[in-house]
Amino acid sequence: MIIAVDGPAGSGKSTVADIVAKKLGFIHFNSGLLYRGITAYLLKNELDINDVKKEDIILETSFIGDVQHVFVNGEDYTPYLRENIVSINSTIVGKNPITRQIVDDCQRTFCSANNCIIDGRDIGTHVFPNAELKFYVDCNVKVRAKRRFLEEQEKNSNVSLKAIEMQIIERDETDKNRKIAPLVQAPDAIYIDTSDLTIDQVVELMMKYYYELGLTQK
Ligand code: DC
Repeated sequence: MIIAVDGPAGSGKSTVADIVAKKLGFIHFNSGLLYRGITAYLLKNELDINDVKKEDIILETSFIGDVQHVFVNGEDYTPYLRENIVSINSTIVGKNPITRQIVDDCQRTFCSANNCIIDGRDIGTHVFPNAELKFYVDCNVKVRAKRRFLEEQEKNSNVSLKAIEMQIIERDETDKNRKIAPLVQAPDAIYIDTSDLTIDQVVELMMKYYYELGLTQK
């Protein structure tokens, strides 16, 4: 079974997907990490982020304990995936059709063989249009910026709240307006605005919809 969770950067989709996965005994597959993995590979090797060749990249992902690791050409890029520089550039890398093909292949192969809750931008619209359950998780920009700012502070980063807000607005623009598989709500996705909800409330809502489906785990 596939549960698709799409939404903009910082909407909380990954946090809630993680908890729902644990409750259901599903794998939480974070598709953004694959784009981040390719981005980290390009940045760390000082390669052109706009010039990705399919034959140059072997993308793999696997779970070590609960942690999703991302390997490019056999090297583990997991330690770099959450860096702010990787966040900003992953949006640009995500525009590239070749990158998207590489990521699509990787996620379809992995998720077709497992019960997964997958979060991303195009899961319900493009990657798994037949997903049994789809959510579109939204949140206003100010709240998202505040959440990301607090995360950055925990990492002792000195990036300002205003800068993060600007980055989010720019990333939204790019994610929503790119030509291939842009961020858009699937017509059959359930819309959840998390701006005024706690994590527990969002999880509760998702679980309610899951049980309403009357589906049992395969
Ligand atoms: O969810 P995230 O912030 O980790 O995603 C990083 C970038 O990867 C995002 O800005 C665009 C790209 N992405 C995408 O294009 N499609 C997805 N399904 C997931 C992420």
